[in-house]
Amino acid sequence: MHNPMAFNEIPRQPGQDRPFQPPVEIDTLRREEPVTPVRMKDGQIAYFVTKHSAVKEVLGDNKRFSASPATPGFPLDNLIGGNTNLFSRFSIVRVDNPNHARLRRAVQAPFRPREVPKHTAMITEVAQQCLDDVRAAGSPADIVPLYTSEIPSRVICKVMGVPESLRKEAKKLSWTVGVPRPAGQLDGYDELGEFLRDIVRHIDADANSPVVLSFLKAALEAGEMSEDELVAKAVLVLQAGHETTAQTMALGCARILTEPDLYRALAAEPEFSDDAVEEMIRYTATIRGGPRRVALEEVTVDGKTYPAGTGFITSLHAANHDPDVFENPGAFKPGRDMGRAHLSFSFGMHQCLGQFLARLELKIGMQTLFHGLPELRLDRPASELSFHGGAGVYGIDTLPLAWKS
Ligand code: HEM
Repeated sequence: MHNPMAFNEIPRQPGQDRPFQPPVEIDTLRREEPVTPVRMKDGQIAYFVTKHSAVKEVLGDNKRFSASPATPGFPLDNLIGGNTNLFSRFSIVRVDNPNHARLRRAVQAPFRPREVPKHTAMITEVAQQCLDDVRAAGSPADIVPLYTSEIPSRVICKVMGVPESLRKEAKKLSWTVGVPRPAGQLDGYDELGEFLRDIVRHIDADANSPVVLSFLKAALEAGEMSEDELVAKAVLVLQAGHETTAQTMALGCARILTEPDLYRALAAEPEFSDDAVEEMIRYTATIRGGPRRVALEEVTVDGKTYPAGTGFITSLHAANHDPDVFENPGAFKPGRDMGRAHLSFSFGMHQCLGQFLARLELKIGMQTLFHGLPELRLDRPASELSFHGGAGVYGIDTLPLAWKS
């Protein structure tokens, strides 16, 4: 093996000339060494996986790969959420079976495909209120704080049962959860956990309620989960429901507006198409720091064998721009022949629980925006926008849009 590059040397910020695609260096890795050895901060050698088929091999096999940071060999360097807090120890995204199945089953009911459409009227009302705020601000307006981050925040708080009076606090805590704190201060995940623990203590338990915190509290009282497991689950759903959807909407919208003809075609349709939503999700793949796994026994990935204890860090964004699966991946092409082959929601048993809710929010959010504001355009070139968070959730800080008022 050649001397592996340090994990933190892998370029994360795409170049300003193509801010929505993976950095060119990632394309080179995928072509030349799709399972690349990388040196972690603690000296461990893990493997960075960029090819679509290899990412699926790692994420699709929950018998031979573990998602738990407690398993020896799990790559911990720069792990979102760290490794010591409540979230990391109990979150469903970080546990293996049989616990994963038990914990996921307990929360999944309102996120099933047949349940999610019941939120259509609520999401439409939320989007309309946010649009009113954008209109009131006047052209040009930054739609990140007023619209793209606001819709997911209002929606997930309603779905979870976070009282309206605490929503702004929930949004602030969710968006800053991963920001490192000075020593001695409460970790962001633990702070969000305590905030939710307090809400749970005051909410009524109701096993038949569609409100997440109410039915989780009923499960807690029935002895089906511990309070820490409940809190960690609530932290994940609240946080996951915020930033990923918000940034998919902001990045996707910005990408579409870089092509005025594409924008006009999408805006002219009676409703924002499901295909365009899916292409936004494929293109942006906002989770950039994983998912990560560790081999529980000898495994084969992309034709090579690796011993038990080998760590893998997958890149969903790189996989989604793999030209072997998506022809001309840098083109934004709604309706491309991919089924749902993109991996933005991950693959296998940890596949995103909120994906149907996210799709509905994106559809209604984009439709309301594109139909509500005529002749929408970027107020500055995409190359001048500022992007953040190459290691965690990738996103855009401000998105100033102009329209014909
Ligand atoms: C476009 C928006 C979204 C994207 C791109 C996204 C992406 C992902 C990804 C990649 C994972 C797997 C992470 C891993 O294995 O490490 C995941 C898991 C998860 N997501 Fe999402 N997500 C989105 C929206 C949401 C929403 C709205 C919710 C809230 C309901 C949500 C809740 C969850 C939960 C609970 C898991 C853990 C599932 C498990 O481990 O079984 N996500 N998501």
